[in-house]
Amino acid sequence: MSEVEFSMSTDGVDWAGLRAALVTDRFDNGRTPEQYRRSHENSHAVVFGRVGDGYVANGRILSDGVCNAYLVDIWTAAPYRRRGVGREVVRRLLATVPGQHVALFTDDMTAFYATLGFRAQAGGMSRIVGRWLDDGRG
Ligand SMILES: CC(C)(COP(=O)(O)OP(=O)(O)OC[C@H]1O[C@@H](n2cnc3c(N)ncnc32)[C@H](O)[C@@H]1OP(=O)(O)O)[C@@H](O)C(=O)NCCC(=O)NCCS
Repeated sequence: MSEVEFSMSTDGVDWAGLRAALVTDRFDNGRTPEQYRRSHENSHAVVFGRVGDGYVANGRILSDGVCNAYLVDIWTAAPYRRRGVGREVVRRLLATVPGQHVALFTDDMTAFYATLGFRAQAGGMSRIVGRWLDDGRG
């Protein structure tokens, strides 16, 4: 983890490079580089982990700034896992939302989030409005 450089700014981010790293790691969800830029710039806080020019970690948190927040895009590149990088990404994001209720969805990483104090909560529901990633802008 010591070689990973963390940043919480979107300034100068190579969105195509981030997308390429996520595609390589099969953690891309169909966004274009421009959609990656918008989704990060519209987030409450973001974290990028780099080694040299390459992206090896990422995460975002959405928040209303008062009571509710939502963790998304939490990712550590496969060769850098189990070194505390993901924990550091989440720690930095949670530090921006004191006093708030933080939710997330995960299919198979419950063990990771459990180490960070999250507990499964029944009653979650979700849906997509229209077609995934289609905001009508063409
Ligand atoms: C989930 C993810 C971000 C974890 O990142 P990471 O950098 O490996 O996590 P850390 O090294 O900080 O792990 C902290 C602790 O969480 C637990 N943990 C992490 N990954 C785990 C796994 N695959 N299985 C079980 N426990 C795990 C361990 O207790 C670990 O501490 P330890 O290594 O000392 O035992 C990473 O596996 C990942 O990017 N996965 C693919 C994308 C993904 O599924 N993201 C989550 C979407 S909701």
